[in-house]
Amino acid sequence: MKIHHLIKISQYLLLLLCVLGDIGLTASTGMKVKLICIEEERQALVSFKQDLTDPSGRLSSWAGQDCCRWKGISCNNQTGHVVKMDLQNTYFDSMDYEEYCLGGKINSSLLSLKHLYYLDLSWNNFEGIRIPNFFGELKTLRYLNISFAEFAGEIPPSLGNLSNLNYLDVRPFSLKMYSKNLNWLSHLSSLKYLNLDGLDHNSSTGWLHVVNILPSLLELHLCDCRIESLPLSLHRINFTSLLVLDLSFNDFNISSFPSWLFNLTSLRKLVLRENSFSCQIPDKLASLKSLEYLDLSDLGLKGSGVPRVLGNLCKLKTLGLRGNNFDSGGIEEFWESLSNCTNNTLVLESLDLSNCGLKGQLPPSLGMLNSLQYLDLSNNHMNESIPQSLGQLSQLVELDLSLNSWDDILTEAHFISLTKLKRLSILNYIEKPMSLVFNMSYDWVPPFKLHKIEIRNCKVGPHFGVWLQSQTELAHVTLSRTGISDSIPKEWLLKLSSQLEYLDLSYNQFQGRLLSQKLMRFPSLISMILDHNQFEGPLSLWSTNATSFDLESNLFSGPTPNLLELYLSENHFNGTIPPSICNMQYLQVLSLRSNHFSGEFPHAWSSGSQITIVDAAYNNLSGNIPSSLGELSNLQILKLNNNNFGSKIPDSLQNCYVLKSIDLGGNKLSGSIPPWIGRSNVSMLYMLRLRSNFFSGHILRQLCNLGYLHILDLSHNNFSGTIPSCFNNLTSLVRDDSNKSHRIYNEQTMLTLKGEELVYNTTIMLVKSIDLSSNNIEGEIPQEIGSLTLLGTLNLSRNQLTGNIPSIVGNMHGLETLDLSNNRLSGQIPQTLASLTFLAHLNLAYNNLVGRIPLGSQLQTFTDPSIYMGNPSLCGVPLPTKCPGDDTFTATDAKPSNEDGSDKLWFYVSMVLGFVMGFWGICGTLFVKKSWRYAYFRFFDDIKDKITLAIVLKVARLQRKFSRV
Ligand SMILES: *[C@@H]1O[C@H](CO)[C@@H](O)[C@H](O)[C@H]1NC(C)=O
Ligand SMILES: *[C@@H]1O[C@H](CO)[C@@H](O)[C@H](O)[C@H]1NC(C)=O
Ligand SMILES: *[C@@H]1O[C@H](CO)[C@@H](O)[C@H](O)[C@H]1NC(C)=O
Ligand SMILES: *[C@@H]1O[C@H](CO)[C@@H](O)[C@H](O)[C@H]1NC(C)=O
Repeated sequence: MKIHHLIKISQYLLLLLCVLGDIGLTASTGMKVKLICIEEERQALVSFKQDLTDPSGRLSSWAGQDCCRWKGISCNNQTGHVVKMDLQNTYFDSMDYEEYCLGGKINSSLLSLKHLYYLDLSWNNFEGIRIPNFFGELKTLRYLNISFAEFAGEIPPSLGNLSNLNYLDVRPFSLKMYSKNLNWLSHLSSLKYLNLDGLDHNSSTGWLHVVNILPSLLELHLCDCRIESLPLSLHRINFTSLLVLDLSFNDFNISSFPSWLFNLTSLRKLVLRENSFSCQIPDKLASLKSLEYLDLSDLGLKGSGVPRVLGNLCKLKTLGLRGNNFDSGGIEEFWESLSNCTNNTLVLESLDLSNCGLKGQLPPSLGMLNSLQYLDLSNNHMNESIPQSLGQLSQLVELDLSLNSWDDILTEAHFISLTKLKRLSILNYIEKPMSLVFNMSYDWVPPFKLHKIEIRNCKVGPHFGVWLQSQTELAHVTLSRTGISDSIPKEWLLKLSSQLEYLDLSYNQFQGRLLSQKLMRFPSLISMILDHNQFEGPLSLWSTNATSFDLESNLFSGPTPNLLELYLSENHFNGTIPPSICNMQYLQVLSLRSNHFSGEFPHAWSSGSQITIVDAAYNNLSGNIPSSLGELSNLQILKLNNNNFGSKIPDSLQNCYVLKSIDLGGNKLSGSIPPWIGRSNVSMLYMLRLRSNFFSGHILRQLCNLGYLHILDLSHNNFSGTIPSCFNNLTSLVRDDSNKSHRIYNEQTMLTLKGEELVYNTTIMLVKSIDLSSNNIEGEIPQEIGSLTLLGTLNLSRNQLTGNIPSIVGNMHGLETLDLSNNRLSGQIPQTLASLTFLAHLNLAYNNLVGRIPLGSQLQTFTDPSIYMGNPSLCGVPLPTKCPGDDTFTATDAKPSNEDGSDKLWFYVSMVLGFVMGFWGICGTLFVKKSWRYAYFRFFDDIKDKITLAIVLKVARLQRKFSRV
């Protein structure tokens, strides 16, 4: 998936957020009265229909004489005039949504419907056309809903002629719609409902003044309109009857609440989330006594604890404060004032205090919120215990206590009356394992039937108790790192299998032959994560559409299931990889690493495939690398390392334009580096690892064109010739732009850094290494290499290099490992080496170096003489050979400068942050939505990439569902 698609999709999702809660659309029921249709109007409708496209035949009833009986048409029961046309596509939540969309053109014959007061074309697809200008002539219209109908471009100002309009909804959904100014609105003096969510008002500063002319306005929706200006004061406010005001997801950047807001005393719903209000919540908010719904999430609000004033709004049903900075305060004050409301019974239904920096304890009287349905306290610093009165929240449907500092034992009492609970989330920090313990008796049957359970890093085991077994309506299960060492009850899984969408049982001790049930089908499964358990036995076949599997680190064995998108890494699968894998149309990730697969790698890849990642490393595969892999135009990562592949790298791979990582190390490949690597079509490589093969020939200059390359490992081959002098063109090693290439897969790569072979996975994007060791490279070390200031590892050992060590090496400030041993280097060790503050591993043994080992700084820490061994003419510490005139040697006490150290640390931190922010910039809005929540937590976990992928896949579905990008 391309980034701009993601951005686009995240925009849709943003809009979805604006929509949430507004989807309760009313289906119109036609009047069943005998009516005679007026012929002229019938003809108008026929013309109107002719210009429409209607793939699903929704308008098939539009035949015959009596147009008043046609679907979507209503007539006045006295006059017979068509008064209402409701062609909303009500299939907007179906997978086949697009099928049901009307499209095409809108015929101006509509103007013949002289009595039309109601027109609804929403959720259809009129992509490619603007809202027709002539709509402004439908003067009788009182209701106009053309939302989500994919009109684009400028809203015709002629709509301002519809002076009878009460209701106007023009939300664009995915295409850009704008209005140069909103002056046309000022004529709509009857307007009660106005929804312009998602419209681009970028340039429109006077919006508030225009809206202020509309005295009848009851609802105003301006979510996600990119408005920047929010006047803080108004001379006089006109729309005081306003009931609903939604200004969320705009670009307001202000430091106090606008004063006119407090005059809107009728307001029932106020949504300001996702703007920047860097201030405290003012006490004046108490004047909005009628508020039932208040969403101030992600506004950057400050304060110490949840402010008292919010507790005075006794009619509040929904309070959203997520993502503000109520640092170090608690909820006591709020609780006190809220307790004052009890006289008229507490109506609060939804309370979101997540991610607010709250401290302290939950009040023991928590149970008094007897209407509460939704409680989110996640991501705060709440500590100590969870009051037992939690168990009295008998209306509670969703509870999220994740990411706090609880230290408690949850008992049956905590859940005793939660009969309506459907979603329970307690995802704990990895650093605070098991500080929360579920202590229920083995056969306790809870009063709830959950749809979603998420528990991580809490102690639930060792048994899979009846309280879990009795949860047979689950669609989402996360029970990760919960200390369960039990077998999974087959009946339980069988009952869940039909509805299960997400199953994560990773990092437990689950045992047994989990999935051998022939009957087991998972038709709804999206992701299954079973890694790090002790599941065993063969995997039988389920019919499923799942898009992601992770069975890593288990004891699975036997033949591979003949299916899908697979993470089967680190198991005991054997035999050949089924060739049918090539036919899996939607397969995107094929991860077979570390199994016992043998024989040839499947050959029948075709261009229809969507594969982005092929990882078959650490198996016993042999034969050629199939040239049909070149058909995989989406291939980004190719890992076939540590097998027995022979012959050459197929040239067809040059068609994989988006290849980012090639690892073919540890095979029997020969030939030279293909000249196409480094040509502009394959230029996104960040890793090229060919080590331990039989490659020969020169190291081509083309490699220098790989601006993203930061891991080059050609070691243990038969390369000859010289080191290209153009390595300074490897910009990724010169400038800090490596975070442009985001990791998309948990790539495991063995690299020799700091003198040890280490497996890198999560940190691979930070590794910057050139390893050309154990070849036959000759000539001098080119000066240009000194420009690689970010390079961490340079290993040129075991070659035939001659000449001096260039003193410019002292410029390579990032260098941690420098191995030049076993060459024929001569001359003195340059003094500049002493300035390499991070150098932790140095080896210059077995050369012809002469003279004194330089003193100072970092070099003093290398006290092992073996790193200078085999250079008979070297002298000085730490060698036993003293240099001439060295009798009175005293060590200089130069200390490594710490300044640079913290610089470097900071550099890495900001790089990681860059990655995180980059990700958030694109997908961040996904997390706002509740159902994407788990993604957020997983993102910060060590296996975040699978979920990134799961998001992408899920978004892809959404994309297929809603758009034609
Ligand atoms: C005609 O329509 C009006 C308003 O739509 C309704 O109140 C009335 O009951 C209808 N009359 C008949 C006979 O259906
Ligand atoms: C308030 O509305 C009235 C009636 O539409 C209008 O005449 C007046 O100018 C409006 N006031 C402001 C401040 O816009
Ligand atoms: C708000 O209300 C107060 C008193 O009710 C009034 O004095 C003030 O002018 C109003 N402000 C606006 C902007 O209408
Ligand atoms: C509760 O209400 C009383 C009377 O209305 C008021 O005096 C008191 O200050 C309120 N307490 C809190 C905590 O708001």
